Amino acid sequence: MSNPTDFMTMQEFAKIAKEKLSFETWDYLIGGAYTETTLKRNRQSLDNIAFRPRVLNDVEHVDASVELFGHKLRLPVIMAPIGSVQDFVEGGGVVPTKAAARFGCYHMLSSVCKPYLDAVAESVDYPKIYQLYVRGDAEWVDDHIDRAIAAGYVAFCFTVDLDYYSKRERDVAKRYLSTSRKTQASGEEWQKRFNWDDIKRIRAKYDIPLILKGIATAEDAAKCVAIGIDAVYVSNHGGRQLDHGRGGVDLLPEIVKAVNGKAKIIFDGGIMRGADVVKAMIMGADCVGIGRLQGLAAGAAGEDGLVRMLELLEEEAIAALGMLGVTKWDQLDMSYLHAAPEVTPPHVLSVFPLLDEGY
Ligand SMILES: Cc1cc2nc3c(=O)[nH]c(=O)nc-3n(C[C@H](O)[C@H](O)[C@H](O)COP(=O)(O)O)c2cc1C
Repeated sequence: MSNPTDFMTMQEFAKIAKEKLSFETWDYLIGGAYTETTLKRNRQSLDNIAFRPRVLNDVEHVDASVELFGHKLRLPVIMAPIGSVQDFVEGGGVVPTKAAARFGCYHMLSSVCKPYLDAVAESVDYPKIYQLYVRGDAEWVDDHIDRAIAAGYVAFCFTVDLDYYSKRERDVAKRYLSTSRKTQASGEEWQKRFNWDDIKRIRAKYDIPLILKGIATAEDAAKCVAIGIDAVYVSNHGGRQLDHGRGGVDLLPEIVKAVNGKAKIIFDGGIMRGADVVKAMIMGADCVGIGRLQGLAAGAAGEDGLVRMLELLEEEAIAALGMLGVTKWDQLDMSYLHAAPEVTPPHVLSVFPLLDEGY
């Protein structure tokens, strides 16, 4: 595929990325922890939902945009933080930031990828979010928040589900380490010590919108709300951390109830299609994150590939909204969903059935 506009479906990104990326990098991108049960459940939990459409409504003009942290997004999508994104695409973290700016959504830059915070901020004058793994004391953390604020990031995210680095056995089997893992793995004890008191201290000191990524229960969501966290990022890290977790969207009902509209809800885990975005939004998300799909598009065709992937995701989401009989997100509710058993045994790429058949 020489021209990114030639991509017509999501699975084409997966096919080309697989051809272009090394075997090691491919497995780093798509793999999950240990038995990959959480990873498979992410897909399964989305596939276990069917739609209940309504017809004969005027759906000529569908608006799939939302507002988040004071900015309008063309689609409720954040390109989720990906460590070592430089392993998939030359230019690293700058590439999804530029693609997000061209399309009109957020990129959340990972602290464990290159280039770092300031260089990425300088590369693109467009709202973006910074995500931190804690690798130092309070002074170290505050320095990162100060720098992010000075560089114009509109929100600051702590990922809190990585106290222990899980084993993705696809990587371990090959003794593979991503580039950031080779160079940025020291100081992990600070993440282990980081706790709710730290979050309270940071909340009291800073006005910047705060996001906690990796919330997986109503109990923790309630703590976020009590502390005044702006966005609860519901995530099991794409099945890359705690194995035998629940499927992603299965986390949403109890968390949506606990949050009760007092914070924004960002969700990720298994989103590969426009219909997945729509399901998560109906279940109560305000915005979704995309991890592997972003890596596949970046690996397949860089910045242009990412923009094209986002266009296709938007096209799919708008078509799904229209076929459900609505023109805006707020017209949807749980009556548009119905429980239904999945039809395909879930695995990380089962969402792309043509891949197995080689087209
Ligand atoms: C290759 C890769 C690297 C990741 N690195 C980070 C990271 O640095 N920080 C973080 O918070 N999450 C990281 N994640 C998790 C994603 O941000 C996101 O939660 C997850 O990928 C969502 O699931 P999905 O891949 O099914 O969309 C990473 C995910 C992948 C696939």
